Amino acid sequence: MAINRDIKRITTNTLLKMKSDGEKISMITAYDFSFAKIFDAAGIDIILVGDSASNVMAGHETTLPITLDQMIYHASSVIRGVQRCLVVVDLPFGSYQSNSKEALSSAIRIMKESGAHSLKMEGGEEILESVNRIVSAGIPVMGHLGLTPQSIYKFGTYSVRAKEADEAEKLKKDAVLLQEAGCFAIVLEKIPAQLAKEVSESLAIPTIGIGAGKYCDGQVLVMHDMLGINTEFKPRFLRQYLNLHEQITGAVQQYIADVKSLDFPNEKEQY
Ligand code: KIV
Repeated sequence: MAINRDIKRITTNTLLKMKSDGEKISMITAYDFSFAKIFDAAGIDIILVGDSASNVMAGHETTLPITLDQMIYHASSVIRGVQRCLVVVDLPFGSYQSNSKEALSSAIRIMKESGAHSLKMEGGEEILESVNRIVSAGIPVMGHLGLTPQSIYKFGTYSVRAKEADEAEKLKKDAVLLQEAGCFAIVLEKIPAQLAKEVSESLAIPTIGIGAGKYCDGQVLVMHDMLGINTEFKPRFLRQYLNLHEQITGAVQQYIADVKSLDFPNEKEQY
């Protein structure tokens, strides 16, 4: 897609300014060209090429199986669809946990091969060395604390995190460490709203919540959940804006009926 130079792009600096101006940040996931183009034109601030692609695009139970090559494929499709918003791409499980050298080479591959603008990584103190190294290479990094789905087998459940004081204290410490390491924003997933408020107020960088309440500096939802494509996932934090599952089913059933009844194609729909 040709770049339109009249469109003012969202950058990490724009997000910082939005936080200081009190303007909330909107973020949604996308995994392909067509949806990215719609979301960008609608005015979304950030598109996250989430490793939730492993669930919603590939049908896996967890985010663990998705590979670096697959994330690069999704990210480069999204990048071709956007002109204005900031694109953040998840570093997938296994591409950054072993050591900071491997983390940097995974980060460079995504940036070089997809054209993405920034990356997201799950974890706090334990990934700091990698965050430092990637940020030092000039790559913007978004942190991700609270429920971190790449660690689901350590947690054992997808329930609310950091309800206990010791976990809440660690999360607050990790948020400050990530900010000091140069992260430009932090996703807070499924934590109590009051804790998210404390963290958001203590940081200069924006927090983006999912199931973390109204005090975060922005919100993110998975597109399949908010558009009602995926109807099996109904957590309390989710607001469903459409029921595309029902609408698509109806449209496809109508198409099947039209084909079977010889209604489609009609005279005007043929050459
Ligand atoms: O992969 C993803 O979609 C995410 C969001 C849930 C924040 O990380």
